[in-house]
Amino acid sequence: MSTTRANYLYPSIGMGLILSSIIFVVVLVPRMTFRPAQPKDLRNYTAQELRGRDIYKREGCWYCHSMVSRPQDWDHGPKSKASDYYYDAYHLIGSERSGPDLANIGGKFPDQYHMLHHQNPRYVKPGSNMPRFDYLSNQELIDLTAYLQGMGPFGTRAQDPETGKLKFARLESYTWTTGPFKGTQEVLAKWNFTPTEQEALNTQRYEGHVEVPYKYRTEIEELLFGTSHEAQAARGTLLIIVNKNRIDGVEVTEESLEKKREDDPAFPAWTELDFKEPEKEPTDPLELKALNTKRKYANYGKGLFNNQCAACHGLKADGHGQAAFGMTKRPANFWDDKFNRYNVDTWFWRISRGVPSTQMPRWEYTLSAEQRLTLAAFLKYVSRNKGLGKLDGMESDYDKLPSQAAPAQASPASAAISIKPVPAKAK
Ligand code: HEC
Ligand code: HEC
Repeated sequence: MSTTRANYLYPSIGMGLILSSIIFVVVLVPRMTFRPAQPKDLRNYTAQELRGRDIYKREGCWYCHSMVSRPQDWDHGPKSKASDYYYDAYHLIGSERSGPDLANIGGKFPDQYHMLHHQNPRYVKPGSNMPRFDYLSNQELIDLTAYLQGMGPFGTRAQDPETGKLKFARLESYTWTTGPFKGTQEVLAKWNFTPTEQEALNTQRYEGHVEVPYKYRTEIEELLFGTSHEAQAARGTLLIIVNKNRIDGVEVTEESLEKKREDDPAFPAWTELDFKEPEKEPTDPLELKALNTKRKYANYGKGLFNNQCAACHGLKADGHGQAAFGMTKRPANFWDDKFNRYNVDTWFWRISRGVPSTQMPRWEYTLSAEQRLTLAAFLKYVSRNKGLGKLDGMESDYDKLPSQAAPAQASPASAAISIKPVPAKAK
């Protein structure tokens, strides 16, 4: 058997030449000749944002999040264009999408939301399977948030192509007073809106939202009749919200309420106390007192609402919050007629559990049962009166919860609340 040695020399030279010419044409020529115009609608990153970007890379956020919104993507905002990556020395486009695309994340949520979400996504997002990043330092969380808030047409990096001015933010020199950069001065991007501009923008971007047909009772029942610690703390508030403490001198229990309802079908169920303002202020002192107590409780809720919810739902609870405009599923507008039908339990469920697959956070981790109940009172009030009504301009100190202001047990003052039977379908 004869063996001839194959000559590999020429084929390998040939293949090497082909390979290098491909590399030359595809990689090197564009590198040397491609000089895209500097984008007019985007500014360069600040040092802080670049730190955030490094954290984003280091923590592998890009394993789960993409940074490119394609034409076929719905719910991800405007599609990305090449110039969006002009200032990226290496891109972080990512490939997989375990989480939503982040190309347009800027301006979608308040900074505080991101901080909480990064620490533990379940704080603000029911059912989220994003890992928690609670080992990041405060500085790292701030930097990461600054980076995310820059992204997309509503982010802090967005410029008006006509004037070249920043659209929503301003750049400001800042000296760090705490943390690892203490004493360091650098330029930071900060949101810049006058309330009027904000309102105009929100109104322009507001659209309706979808109704959720849930009903939730057991937890309220546990709070009203149960023995848990939460139930003890919440009981006073709950009795005020759902009904007065005593009906005809008899202490309120589930049975006494049910019985009352059997006797008088027009009598509201314990979850249906009406918060509608009467046409004119009552003259009967007891009735007036009852009315003012209801207002007071709703007003506690208002204080909390301003602090925790207004960023999305708006100060007037009409859904026009500053973070609302970036969302596909808009925050609820509590002036809507349909909310008239909500019972305390529905409100409570919604506030506690959030609304999965929307940006509505799950508040049971951050707010106590009693706090959530005052929010329920406030939202009942808003929906029944289509607005802030008498609460408009009323001072509200959300730190002083009803149970601290008044003992949770039935007190003579709260027992004085009169319940007027309201037709179940009062409009
Ligand atoms: C294991 C996959 C995974 C990793 C890693 C991950 N995320 Fe997420 N992320 C998700 C999922 C799933 C969601 C959707 C649920 C939610 O909002 O929590 C999400 C949501 C988000 C949102 C909200 C987006 C929106 O439009 O609602 C932001 C912002 C975000 N992630 C940022 C980050 C950052 C920053 C990191 C890195 C520090 C990171 N994620 C790491 C899976 C991941
Ligand atoms: C990050 C933005 C955001 C914040 C903060 C927020 N919400 Fe929401 N909320 C939403 C969105 C978006 C929806 C709409 C969900 C839907 O349409 O299904 C919603 C829906 C709701 C609903 C349910 C409405 C319905 O149709 O059943 C209630 C109740 C509610 N929010 C109360 C609150 C309260 C109380 C707070 C403050 C403690 C709060 N929200 C804070 C975004 C937010």
